[in-house]
Amino acid sequence: MSVTFDYVGKHVFVFGGTTGINFGVARCFALAGAWVSVASRSQENVDHAAATLAELGSEVFGVTADVRDFEAVGRAFTAAHERFGPIDVLISGAAGNFLAPINSLSPNGFKVVIDIDLIGTFHVMRQAFDHLARPGASVINITAPQSVIPIRQQSHVGAAKAGIDQLTRIAALEWGPLGVRVNAISPGPIDGTEGMKRLSPEGGSDEVAAMIPVGRLGQAADIGHLAMFLASDAASFISGAIIPCDGGGAIESVKPMIDAATAAGNTQRLIVR
Ligand code: NAP
Ligand code: COA
Repeated sequence: MSVTFDYVGKHVFVFGGTTGINFGVARCFALAGAWVSVASRSQENVDHAAATLAELGSEVFGVTADVRDFEAVGRAFTAAHERFGPIDVLISGAAGNFLAPINSLSPNGFKVVIDIDLIGTFHVMRQAFDHLARPGASVINITAPQSVIPIRQQSHVGAAKAGIDQLTRIAALEWGPLGVRVNAISPGPIDGTEGMKRLSPEGGSDEVAAMIPVGRLGQAADIGHLAMFLASDAASFISGAIIPCDGGGAIESVKPMIDAATAAGNTQRLIVR
């Protein structure tokens, strides 16, 4: 069976879409013909992502903005709207992560992840709303297994992502009648990403893959394929859902993976600053 998606003439905006999983999602939509907008903090990342997506034949708009800056987020959407028109698909995936036990977190260390992940997602959704194509737009937030699984050294991320899950459900209630569906994707361990680099044990990919029921790590395209389905008419009755894309293994793999990474002797290597 082959399934293809057609996003020709659709505007897809991926916030935090310049590297890793979110860039992989942007790439999938570009290959399906969408006009793609990407935003993140670093001009270098934005330029590289925009050039790479353009090589696929996609029309691309890249803009720098920090999700913690409400006004800058608004300016990014205004500029993208001027370029490609109303936004049909919004992906919000900017995030920060590092391993740290509660007693090693300063108030600002806890706050920075809440600010980027949770308040940043609110900023993105709040500023995007007036630019969404209504009715018909689809919003997809990127959450993580930590939102439901308590994992040591992830209090900041767990709290932020749990907030994103509930923000997703409540926006689905409020925006459904306005013609906007809102869902979230919860990726499992995805190969070659910054998140994996920061959270996986010394043994790396093979060790983690062995913990996942389907026997492999995820690829960014796995998340992209789910996003393309969720944003399509085939998913028109799905809203307010938090959908794992994890090879069946979030509980089986993510907790033991991070616990292994934080075991004695590994922790210091994984403190990334
Ligand atoms: P990544 O490559 O570091 O992606 C993060 C993206 O967000 C980058 O484009 C980054 O670009 C941008 N960003 C970070 N802080 C920002 C800010 N304050 N304002 C605007 N943009 C910002 O990480 P990843 O591992 O692919 O993770 C992507 C998403 O998947 C995250 O939401 C993460 O929680 C989730 N996730 C990842 C995994 C995994 O296995 N990797 C598993 C579960 C969930 P700049 O540096 O240019 O700002
Ligand atoms: N352990 C404990 N505290 C840490 C830490 C660590 N490993 N890394 C950062 N912090 C604390 C800092 O000490 C600081 O608190 P302080 O002011 O009390 O000292 C606070 O977090 C903010 O750090 P700062 O470096 O100023 O933040 P930033 O805004 O420049 O960067 C991060 C944000 C820390 C989340 C950074 O890792 C980042 O940009 N990450 C994006 C990429 C990423 O994480 N990808 C994976 C996604 S799953």
